[in-house]
Amino acid sequence: MKRTRTLIPLSQDHHHGLLLAALIKKDAPPYKTLPQTTEGKLEYTLKAWENELSIHFKNEEEILFPVVKGKDEEIDGLINGILEEHKEIEKLIVLLKTSENKIDTLDNLGNLLERHIRKEERILFQKIQEIFTEKELENLVGKISRVKK
Ligand SMILES: [Fe+2]
Ligand SMILES: [Fe+2]
Repeated sequence: MKRTRTLIPLSQDHHHGLLLAALIKKDAPPYKTLPQTTEGKLEYTLKAWENELSIHFKNEEEILFPVVKGKDEEIDGLINGILEEHKEIEKLIVLLKTSENKIDTLDNLGNLLERHIRKEERILFQKIQEIFTEKELENLVGKISRVKK
């Protein structure tokens, strides 16, 4: 299903999020321009959190979800699960700074982030596009922009 205009910036962010997830999972293949050491990956992840992910979460939580909540039980249930995952992801980010085993913590974060993004893309966004017309979502256009230019 083609992504509706309102959700495109979030889908573009997801693309970046999946790259990050792939980079920090255990035994990730090297990516040319991205860090290859654990310390480098850690720093890259913390920056990505600050400059991209945390803002992306805010866009979902404060702009998108309030508009699509309360119309469909399945969507509401998905959003509740997604909000929990946002908290878990943030906890792992905090843990990264003190973790004794940064390779495992990065791996856990990478796996969770990937699952989370796939759920939003394949299930939540699909469902939103089934339940809401393009017109109903139209007033969100311009309110959500992609976090990485
Ligand atoms: Fe999310
Ligand atoms: Fe997302």
